[in-house]
Amino acid sequence: MSEQSVTDEMTTGGGAASDATVQPANTPQSRVGETLLEVKNISLSFGGVKALTNISFDIKAHEIRAIIGPNGAGKSSMLNVINGFYHPQEGEITYKGVTRKKMRPHQAAKQGIARTFQNIALFKGMSTLDNIMTGRVLKMKQPWLMQALYWGPGQKEEIEHREFCERIIDFLEIQHIRKIPVGKLPYGLQKRVELGRALAAEPELLLLDEPMAGMNVEEKEDMCRFILDVNDEFGTTMALIEHDMGVVMDISDRVVVLDYGCKLADGTPDEVRSDQAVIDAYLGVAHD
Ligand SMILES: Nc1ncnc2c1ncn2[C@@H]1O[C@H](COP(=O)(O)OP(=O)(O)OP(=O)(O)O)[C@@H](O)[C@H]1O
Ligand SMILES: [Mg+2]
Repeated sequence: MSEQSVTDEMTTGGGAASDATVQPANTPQSRVGETLLEVKNISLSFGGVKALTNISFDIKAHEIRAIIGPNGAGKSSMLNVINGFYHPQEGEITYKGVTRKKMRPHQAAKQGIARTFQNIALFKGMSTLDNIMTGRVLKMKQPWLMQALYWGPGQKEEIEHREFCERIIDFLEIQHIRKIPVGKLPYGLQKRVELGRALAAEPELLLLDEPMAGMNVEEKEDMCRFILDVNDEFGTTMALIEHDMGVVMDISDRVVVLDYGCKLADGTPDEVRSDQAVIDAYLGVAHD
């Protein structure tokens, strides 16, 4: 593959997904705010495997921040550090002005960080609605027993949460599958339900790990539209891991590029797509 064709692929997306046409994100200046999250000098290893080496970048409020890189680059590990699943050996994380050595999953969730997973993590035997309801758990104030017995204040609260989830179902245009067990749904719809579950937590920062993987062009277009709508209508900040460069270039405000656990580039889509180190990484050019 020539250097030009790699650049073209990064411009258009290359594969089946590349035909996805989406609206460009708003100009960053018009809506992007102050820094919401900053990771500084993060290093993470598993035994001898260095998943992340001295990574620093920030995410600003209302931004769609893409994290890209070849397989094994450390992208999912980075999201796992941000939401506290992994604890880095070095570095610090500043979220909403509070600096920590490491996040804890419950801290992250309570403070408005939600995520979707690279491999769908839903309750396959439960309906779409019930899966989305699980995203409301941290919002529930009444004791579990009250909810389970559907009694007293628990009943009122349950109704309010259900109404909230029904609004998400309408927003994501999945009314027709609201009662179907998610295990019976095609893959693309399961991904949409997972987005719904994350949205049910009313996140301030949403971490999306390959939300369009395995989707056909039409499903990708829909998912892009939902991501842009969530960002636009709810003001949700997003970190987005995605392999389809057409999608990344179309919808993200800024892109951070990882390769072998190191940060290779960071900038606007135009800046990273013309960065020689990035082009080399996608061509598989050997490192010194
Ligand atoms: N829990 C773990 N235990 C051991 N090694 C891990 C663990 N999680 C990640 N790694 C290793 O860290 C490196 C980065 O993995 P990671 O999953 O973050 O990459 P990625 O960029 O998300 O790749 P992909 O595009 O394939 O999803 C890999 O070498 C991986 O094997
Ligand atoms: Mg990954």
